[in-house]
Amino acid sequence: MMEMVPQAAPMLRIYRYRAAVDAAIARVLDGGTAIGGAEVAAFEAAFAAFCGVGHAIGCGNGTDALVLALRAAGIGPGDEVITVALTAHGTAQAIRLVGAVPIFVEVDSATRTMDPAAAAAAITPRTAALVPVHLYGQMADMPALTALAAQQGLFLLEDCAQAHGAEMAGRRAGGWGHAAAFSFYPTKNLGAVGDGGAVVTQDAALAKRVRSQTNYGWSDARRISDVVAGNSRLDTVQAAILAALLPHLDEAIAERRAIAAALHLGIGGAVTLPRWDDGAVWHQFVIAHPARDLLAASLSRDGIGTAVHYTPPLHWQPAFYRDAQPPLPITERLAAEVLSLPIQPEVAGPATQAIIDAVRRGAAECAR
Ligand SMILES: Cc1ncc(COP(=O)(O)O)c(C=O)c1O
Repeated sequence: MMEMVPQAAPMLRIYRYRAAVDAAIARVLDGGTAIGGAEVAAFEAAFAAFCGVGHAIGCGNGTDALVLALRAAGIGPGDEVITVALTAHGTAQAIRLVGAVPIFVEVDSATRTMDPAAAAAAITPRTAALVPVHLYGQMADMPALTALAAQQGLFLLEDCAQAHGAEMAGRRAGGWGHAAAFSFYPTKNLGAVGDGGAVVTQDAALAKRVRSQTNYGWSDARRISDVVAGNSRLDTVQAAILAALLPHLDEAIAERRAIAAALHLGIGGAVTLPRWDDGAVWHQFVIAHPARDLLAASLSRDGIGTAVHYTPPLHWQPAFYRDAQPPLPITERLAAEVLSLPIQPEVAGPATQAIIDAVRRGAAECAR
């Protein structure tokens, strides 16, 4: 039987660094601390430095990271938060979870990220925040969005769940907004052996409020609940594993860039390619084709796994339905056409030529 190339295989990344991960787990078991402690503080400091910001606060997952940042910024019922509909559900769920209303705006068809002009046009007196998503590892237009947020007095929260280490104009993802949310879900470029997340920020006061939100609203060791808050912490063992993997992230990003460049060159004009971006970290390599499902079936017959990120778009999901939502033709077309190829180095590295051949063959079949 033909061996399938999976679209992603997160545990292969863990196995690749198995010795470092085993040592991290053993250190936690020997250290006798299961929640918090020096391992969490060390990872938070290392991750803040990696992002080029002053503060990182570990938490339970990427959705919680968005919720914690929005709550710490005082965003809640009565507020509108502008975001995109071509993203993971967590982006909009977080906005709903704090009681605010997600307002979905159009994406740019080339970058597939928030169109700053569409965001500007959607601002009302109730708008409190912008949540652009650095989708597939490519950053949104942060120079334009930071200018818009500053001019309109809006809280700017970057959804960096897919963009650890991405860069624009020499500044990394997470260093542009008032705060940024990361996920360490296993498939992410920096992924744990389970769930994990972090909020990063340059603002010390905001960092303190985020941390209090992770831990029952306590602001210090006195254990006084100053505000209403739940519990969302990065486990000590996950922090230790992430700290062991972080030194290898730049190497993995370089590998993703090399595979993306080979796919770009090899696939050529057979399908719509993602726009080339030197600062992207290629969390996904996402092509587009009008006969997406036929193409996916052809790739599968050739042993290449694919995935669709994301359909249906979020403005069509029951949880986010709004009477006043205008259609989003670019988003809707992308949701119908996008197809994520394998790009994880452990999977796609040895199979790059097979992926190229299968896409070219599939596109030719679809054209018949
Ligand atoms: C863009 C985006 N935002 C938010 C999330 C939510 O992260 P998590 O699954 O860790 O809650 C994810 C991951 O699924 C994501 O890709």
